[in-house]
Amino acid sequence: MSPTPPKLEAAFEITNPLDCDIDAIIAPILAKSSESPIVNFVPANTLDGKLATDVPGKAVPLEDILQEMETVVVSHARRNAHPGFYGYIAGPGLPTDPMAHAFVGALNQNVIGYPGAPGATVVEQTVIGWFRQLAGLPDSSEGAIVSGGSVANLSALAVALYSAIGREYIQAGLASYTEAKPVIVGARTTHFCIQRAALMLGLGAGQVVVVEHDENFRMRPDSLEKTLLSCRDQGLKPVCVVASAGTTVTGSIDPLDALADICENNGIWFHVDAAYGGAGLWSPELRPRFTGIERADSVCMDLHKWFYLAFDGSVLLFRQPELARHVYYTRSDYVQFPKQGTPEEYMFFHFSPELSRRFRGLPAYIAFRYYGGEILGRNIYHNHECAAYLAELVEQDADLELICKPDLSICCFRYNPSHLRDQPGIVDRLNRKIRQRLQEGGDFLLSPTDVENRPVLRVCIVSYTTRAQHMERLVHRVKAIGEELSKL
Ligand SMILES: Cc1ncc(COP(=O)(O)O)c(C=O)c1O
Repeated sequence: MSPTPPKLEAAFEITNPLDCDIDAIIAPILAKSSESPIVNFVPANTLDGKLATDVPGKAVPLEDILQEMETVVVSHARRNAHPGFYGYIAGPGLPTDPMAHAFVGALNQNVIGYPGAPGATVVEQTVIGWFRQLAGLPDSSEGAIVSGGSVANLSALAVALYSAIGREYIQAGLASYTEAKPVIVGARTTHFCIQRAALMLGLGAGQVVVVEHDENFRMRPDSLEKTLLSCRDQGLKPVCVVASAGTTVTGSIDPLDALADICENNGIWFHVDAAYGGAGLWSPELRPRFTGIERADSVCMDLHKWFYLAFDGSVLLFRQPELARHVYYTRSDYVQFPKQGTPEEYMFFHFSPELSRRFRGLPAYIAFRYYGGEILGRNIYHNHECAAYLAELVEQDADLELICKPDLSICCFRYNPSHLRDQPGIVDRLNRKIRQRLQEGGDFLLSPTDVENRPVLRVCIVSYTTRAQHMERLVHRVKAIGEELSKL
């Protein structure tokens, strides 16, 4: 008897519900992106029961789902493009992004490499080439666009370990190396993802040796030299020095050129975490501050931070891509491409643990071509100008205390009036409350931050919507809240 061909009934066919107007969904979101409050923050249980928690069985109309999105997501989304949003480091998203991300969804490319996504691979290679030029790395450097700075740093550190320990690391892991204990070296100000990377690489989160920083929170080259010597005395093997350009809390740029010299003299991998600050390379005025980045063995720069783009993406670059290929090259029963193939066999998964990948390069390609480096660089510099202006306002005010002059677009300060200077505990509490009250007011949002164990008001400007007037209003507001609270 011949087999019966299966048949899918018409009622079960996957249909396209989108005879609706996508612009009608997106436009109101964009129109409100600068409206206050920055986030309509409610206790999580307020949102209980607003979504269908049982595994969906029957189909429901699109309007119902859009209503749920409105109630839960749109109404409670943080507006990262708001001119008063200064928390963490979250890019505002560019106006080209909704279209670019729709494009990405419609194309649905798995950008593992050329064979499966030829056009998308060439776009990403082009974007990576732009970042290579921005960083001043040689034409021979290569890399990939991974999900974010944490994954980029982890991916780079695995290659640094391989480079320090040698071939055996690939198959036998850390156990193959018994001469000394491998460690990573970084300042106290490096991002915590470096500790997490050390943990995942089997070194242990505690194996990031700390180098002292100066009063501007930049790593001290003399302290790095001493640290490397003392590592050797203690039987530790530094496999990588992680420099920041700039740091997450104060936006400080480590002295990259001097650190590169030390790494070169000691034969140690030099990694530059420019996840936040890399966008400063667009600005001719800020660019000289990054001198030395071009000497890095590996660099990462996040698209979703100061490059303004919507989430997510981090461009990871390797000066010697062949080392990354030794670590990440994999041949399996179902993936059989050469380690160093022809352009038609090009693979991005030879540079990081990520295999399947969204087409992250497209929104960057579209936005960078559309706006160009001149406009983007000018806006990035303006962010710095606003941070520097805020620092000046703070310095001129006897009730405020500047933590350090901004290298990039972050300014940290404290409300610290003279009559409370001998009561640091009260000043700490005041600053925590001021931050909270700013957030409740809806026009400004700063994330809780400590500098040297003391709460500060950290203003991280990574939106092209922020202007000098917002700095003036912020100072005014901080002082008004501070004065009011001091009277209580
Ligand atoms: C300097 C630096 N490196 C790495 C990261 C981690 O990046 P991501 O959140 O994209 O993983 C951050 C996050 O703020 C950062 O500021």
